[in-house]
Amino acid sequence: MNYQWYPGHMTKAKRQMQEDIRLIDLVIELVDARIPQSSRNPDIDNLGKNKARLILLNKADLADEKLNRLWMEEFKGKGFHVLEVNSKSGQGLKAIQGIVREACKEKIARDRSRGIINRPIRAMVVGIPNVGKSTFINSFAGKACTKTGNKPGVTKGKQWIRLNKDLELLDTPGILWPKFEDQVVGLRLAMIGSIRDEIIDSSELALKMIGFLNKDYPLALNKRYDIMEFSDNHEALKMICLNRRCFLKGEELDLNRAAGIVIDDFRNGRLGRITIDRMDCRSEV
Ligand code: G4P
Repeated sequence: MNYQWYPGHMTKAKRQMQEDIRLIDLVIELVDARIPQSSRNPDIDNLGKNKARLILLNKADLADEKLNRLWMEEFKGKGFHVLEVNSKSGQGLKAIQGIVREACKEKIARDRSRGIINRPIRAMVVGIPNVGKSTFINSFAGKACTKTGNKPGVTKGKQWIRLNKDLELLDTPGILWPKFEDQVVGLRLAMIGSIRDEIIDSSELALKMIGFLNKDYPLALNKRYDIMEFSDNHEALKMICLNRRCFLKGEELDLNRAAGIVIDDFRNGRLGRITIDRMDCRSEV
């Protein structure tokens, strides 16, 4: 996880995407179900206009089930096709084929009216780093697919993964950048582990997580660390430190180690299924 984004990278990635997007019918946009809004790229709606759109709430297994449903409704209300998936286990991927046909029905009808039958739908996967694009492509395409293009005798060009007679996927995903400049978004990306840890001090990050959990998932800390009734986030971290027996030499508390434990537990779902983004996304974490 060592993504560094400079204006040059972003301009190049955007140009590449503008080129690739011309070749496709459908944009499959992956978002992280724990932060469905903060893991979106602000330019994607513009880049993907005039294309069929499918949003996948990926890592749905780590996110709050109730909020997964609410976010699906939210995106549907904005005119997107939406599914919740777990690309790692493959859960939810079976439903994609049907929804792709639904999302592309206008294109299919247009082809038909021009006498073009059975032209496969061409799709591309896009999303910010670490959202699960490669995992998704590998699980979805599986082993059954065949690659097309760049073979002797075939015009040199893009590599397409042929999933079946109806659907082809561009084999390299489009990388988008998140809305770094927004501090709330930056913090949420750090919480799920999507940007480099050096960006925020680990104790500070753990304290933010504790504050957020205490507000939105009040039982989570008690359940995992057996703590309750603390006056502030700092005291809670101290209690976790004691509970986990994180000591430096002697009896001195190793708060950094305790912070690392909280961060790791939070990101790996050991504190339960958690969604940080709410529909009214501006609330502070
Ligand atoms: P990217 O191409 O968009 O950059 O993301 P990538 O597929 O590399 O996935 C980033 C991390 O997210 C990987 O974990 C991957 O296993 C995990 N992941 C992807 N989809 C899901 C999902 O639906 N649920 C869960 N729980 N995890 C998912 P990693 O820690 O980098 O690797 P590993 O521990 O899996 O080996």
